Amino acid sequence: MNTLPPLDEQAANDCAALCLEITDKIKQNNGFLPFVDYMNWALYAPKYGYYSGRAEKIGQYGDFATAPQLTDLFGKCLARQLLQILPQTAGNIYEFGAGTGKLAVDILKWLPENAWQKYYIIELSADLRTRQKDYIQHNAPQYAHKIKHLDRLPKHFDGVILGNEVLDAMPCEVLEKREDGIYRMGVKNTPQGFDWAATKATGLLLAEAQNRLPESVFSYRTEINLQAEAFVRTVSERLTRGGMLWIDYGFDRKEYYHPQRNTGTLMGHYRHHTVDNPFVFTGQMDLTAHIDFTAIADAATEEGLDFIGYTTQAAFLMACGITDFLAELGDTAGEKYIKTVSAVQKLLNPHEMGELFKCIAFGKNINPDWLGFSGLDLSGKL
Ligand SMILES: C[S@@+](CC[C@H](N)C(=O)[O-])C[C@H]1O[C@@H](n2cnc3c(N)ncnc32)[C@H](O)[C@@H]1O
Repeated sequence: MNTLPPLDEQAANDCAALCLEITDKIKQNNGFLPFVDYMNWALYAPKYGYYSGRAEKIGQYGDFATAPQLTDLFGKCLARQLLQILPQTAGNIYEFGAGTGKLAVDILKWLPENAWQKYYIIELSADLRTRQKDYIQHNAPQYAHKIKHLDRLPKHFDGVILGNEVLDAMPCEVLEKREDGIYRMGVKNTPQGFDWAATKATGLLLAEAQNRLPESVFSYRTEINLQAEAFVRTVSERLTRGGMLWIDYGFDRKEYYHPQRNTGTLMGHYRHHTVDNPFVFTGQMDLTAHIDFTAIADAATEEGLDFIGYTTQAAFLMACGITDFLAELGDTAGEKYIKTVSAVQKLLNPHEMGELFKCIAFGKNINPDWLGFSGLDLSGKL
């Protein structure tokens, strides 16, 4: 905590204003706010939430870097995958949580124009929506008329749905398994600020926790993301034809709820520092939790989608030809090549993003053989 760069004056004021809003919410809720509601407010509160505020979030000057920021070869690989699927559909692309807009531009840069009809962006953050429109206008004005922001979910999807690091940004429940039962974690007010509080878990959350958490292990803290699962269900139900691809950090269920992973995966990101305490810099720090991909697979297949594949990001990008694309850059002594090699290494390296990040995909009424899953198959772990 001592090593974190301080908030500037505006950020400190916004943080204080958001903390007052949350303090009131806790009071209205008899002193206990479920963590999922805290996280929702910290990230998405209309004025002061992390994703609502105007501060730079993604990239070198923000709090975290995502794959599209590292190199356009990430988008080139996705374009190659999309090219295989789009002709079997009406040709639409639906990107959830499009960040800076870079992935959209990168994908479209490599897709032949007659391979796609419309690129729809569904984005919760008003600030990011503005940034995306500006980025597209500056970097791909020729496509701007075919890229459309949607205010609500379409009734039907016909094309390819995709999202990079979107599911992990959805608010999750935090649970604690103790000797005397399973607790739903929440937030209370104290004279020093927010602190953890606990109440016995009940209903669906308790049932899911009993199903997923390891037996005979206590003092065990973890997360369940019912919201992300419900979201995947809704989107799956509306996919009439095409594919759905999610890229995110996470594990299959056995690894996620491993007895030794007893402090969970919830994490804050602030100016490229990781922060364990989610009550630091409320609204100015990103909060995320890893994805239980078994839960995502269950949600999609229970809504009638075909399971397509589950693999590491490294294997997916390799299968889509990332190393060939790198070789095509030529001039191995040039600055572009050297920078791109370093970015690709980060995407592929098992100790960086290569293995922690996974790709999972589903389909409806299309050919299930996708290029990206032709390498390593991890589906047996789900
Ligand atoms: C960690 S950022 C990732 C941004 C971008 N995909 C990238 O890779 O750079 C998470 C994004 O997901 C968006 N998001 C979260 N929940 C969403 C939802 N239900 N619908 C649409 N966007 C959502 C956030 O607003 C934010 O843009």
